[in-house]
Amino acid sequence: MSEYYWDSKIEYLRNTRWLYYNDDYLEFLVKNVWKMNTPINMVDYGCGYGYLGLKLLPLLPDGSTYTGIDKGEDLIKEAREIFDKLPYSVELMQGDIEEIQVHPQYDIALCHAFLLHMKNPRAILQKMIDSVRDGGRVCFEPHWIANAANFGFDDGLLHSEVVRLGVLQKLYEVDASRSGKDGNIGIKLPILLSQLGLRNVECRVSDKVNFLDRHMDAASKERLYPSLREEGIGQEPDEPSMTMEQLVERGLTAEEAQAQYAAELKLFQEFDSDSWLTYAPNMKISFGTVSRE
Ligand SMILES: C[S@@+](CC[C@H](N)C(=O)[O-])C[C@H]1O[C@@H](n2cnc3c(N)ncnc32)[C@H](O)[C@@H]1O
Repeated sequence: MSEYYWDSKIEYLRNTRWLYYNDDYLEFLVKNVWKMNTPINMVDYGCGYGYLGLKLLPLLPDGSTYTGIDKGEDLIKEAREIFDKLPYSVELMQGDIEEIQVHPQYDIALCHAFLLHMKNPRAILQKMIDSVRDGGRVCFEPHWIANAANFGFDDGLLHSEVVRLGVLQKLYEVDASRSGKDGNIGIKLPILLSQLGLRNVECRVSDKVNFLDRHMDAASKERLYPSLREEGIGQEPDEPSMTMEQLVERGLTAEEAQAQYAAELKLFQEFDSDSWLTYAPNMKISFGTVSRE
C-alpha cells in the first residue's frame, strides 16, 4: 500500500469537492465566461482522482480531451477506474510535476487545490504556462482567510469566538513565508499570472454557500454534515499542550496559541448535526491568456 499522504486522502477528496462549486456555476464559467465552444485539450496538474475532468468534460464540446497528472499512484489508479467507465478521451499519468518535462501541447492547463501545496508556486505556474500552446490557462485555488471569514452561526455562537481571524491570518502568512506553501494563493494568482506574462487576466469567486439547515431533509443533511466535518469544521483539537506548542512553533505568542486552542475546542464542542451553519469556501478561479510575443 502506498505511503504517500494524498493516496490516503481519497475519501476526504471524494467527500469534500462538492462543497466548493455549484454545477450551474461551473457551466456558466465554461459556456458564458470562457465560451469554450470548440474541443479543448486540457491538462490538470495534481488531478487527484480526476475531479476537474469529471466536472468539466460533460460541459465541453465533443472531442475535448483531459490529461490528469498526479504524484499519487492510488489516486491515478482510482481515476483510471472511474474514467474507464466513461465515454471520454482521457490520459492519466502518475508523475511529479517538479520532475516532469513539459512541452507546449495543451490548450489549457488547470489545477485545483494544488498550488497551495507547492513550495514554489511561481515556478510551478511557469511550468504550467510552458505546457500550454496558446490561449487560456485556468486555475482553481482556495483563499483560506476568506474561507475562514465566511462562516455564519445562529445567535448562540459568535464567529469571533470560534474563528480567530487575526490569528489565522498571521498563521497563514508565517507558514507561507517559512514553507513557500500559501493557503491564500487563490487571491494572489491574478498578480502572479500577470507577472508571468499572461494577459487579459481575470479572477472569479465560486458562488457556492453551504447551508446546514435544521429544516433540511434528512438525506441532504446526512450528506452535508459529514462532509463539513471532513472539511475540518469543528475538528477535535489535539491534546492542549501539544497543540499550543505547535502553534507557538508556527509563530504565535503563548497567549494567541491559548486563544486559538480555546476557539478550536469551542467549535468542536458546539458544532453538531443540529447546528445552524452557513459556510462559503470562497474558491477563486483565475485565468488569463498565454502570450509569448
Ligand atoms: C488537495 S489535493 C487536490 C486534488 C484534486 N485536484 C482535487 O481537487 O480533487 C492536492 C493534489 O496535489 C497532488 N500533488 C501534490 N504535489 C504534487 C507534485 N509534486 N506532483 C504532482 N502532484 C502533486 C497530490 O497528490 C494531491 O492529489
